[in-house]
Amino acid sequence: MWVQELSSCDPGGVPKGPQNFPKTALGYIRGMTSHLTLITGASRGLGLAMCQQLLAQGHCVVAISRKPTELPVPPGAELLSWEQDLSQPLAAARRLEDWLLATGPARWASATLINNAGVVSTLAPLSGVPGEDLSNALRVGLEAPLLLTSAFLRATAGWGMPRKVLLISSGLGRRAMAGSASYCAAKAGMDHLARALALEEAEQPNGARVVSLAPGVIDTDMQTQLRGADPALFPERERFLALKSSGQLDSPAQAATKVLALLARADFGREPVTDVRSA
Ligand SMILES: NC(=O)c1ccc[n+]([C@@H]2O[C@H](COP(=O)([O-])OP(=O)(O)OC[C@H]3O[C@@H](n4cnc5c(N)ncnc54)[C@H](OP(=O)(O)O)[C@@H]3O)[C@@H](O)[C@H]2O)c1
Repeated sequence: MWVQELSSCDPGGVPKGPQNFPKTALGYIRGMTSHLTLITGASRGLGLAMCQQLLAQGHCVVAISRKPTELPVPPGAELLSWEQDLSQPLAAARRLEDWLLATGPARWASATLINNAGVVSTLAPLSGVPGEDLSNALRVGLEAPLLLTSAFLRATAGWGMPRKVLLISSGLGRRAMAGSASYCAAKAGMDHLARALALEEAEQPNGARVVSLAPGVIDTDMQTQLRGADPALFPERERFLALKSSGQLDSPAQAATKVLALLARADFGREPVTDVRSA
């Protein structure tokens, strides 16, 4: 029967595309493979722009944020939008692992996890930031990527196709900045996580390729937050105002194009810690 010949990005039900998604689209026919990309923080900013470009390339995208990812889905692509709070990283990782195990490898030509979600806590010296705020920044910015990556690597360990993990880091993981210690710590942790993981995966048959990438400076809500900080508590506010006024910010679409170009390179993973501006 025709309906049984259709497969879906979602093992538990019908794909969540727009209502007019053609049911005969190639991506749904059993036997066809597509690229699976799981991406956190895909409701806005850089994550939303990457999601849009991946859908345009025909990927099946699992978008993970607190708010839904709302994008048109072109024929041949698929979008699953998970409303998931990454400040509860154990639950998020369990959901990811269960979904990957239920989905299995048969449909995919490649499997990629992009840990993109990140949080800047209140911009002030560490002693002046509420503990809940600091804890949230570390849970979303470091604990969630670590646990999601662990779940992804475990669930896909026996999959025979190329597997990649991309961690969206920051220049601030490598250069310290006063007033954002939790963000600097999360990004530095992410960089070193990538270095250690790359060593581990190099020992595995079909090990995943891992990169922690600084994506450049991007005109998103995060930059608005930096420019809106109290200058008495955040000395580098002026620098962020100047970057904006001198037109030095990439649009989310420009940054997404650069990041996805690096992800697609044949030598992706050769340098586990890198920067789009020097790669
Ligand atoms: N913008 C820059 O100049 C810049 C520079 C260097 C590095 N980066 C890095 O690039 C990445 C993307 O940044 P951006 O500028 O696009 O940030 P953004 O506009 O602030 O977007 C952050 C994303 O993270 C998600 N997120 C935040 N808290 C979450 C939570 N508790 N659970 C689930 N998702 C959560 C948000 O979704 P919801 O609110 O819907 O949950 C949103 O989709 C971050 O890792 C950031 O550190 C940015």
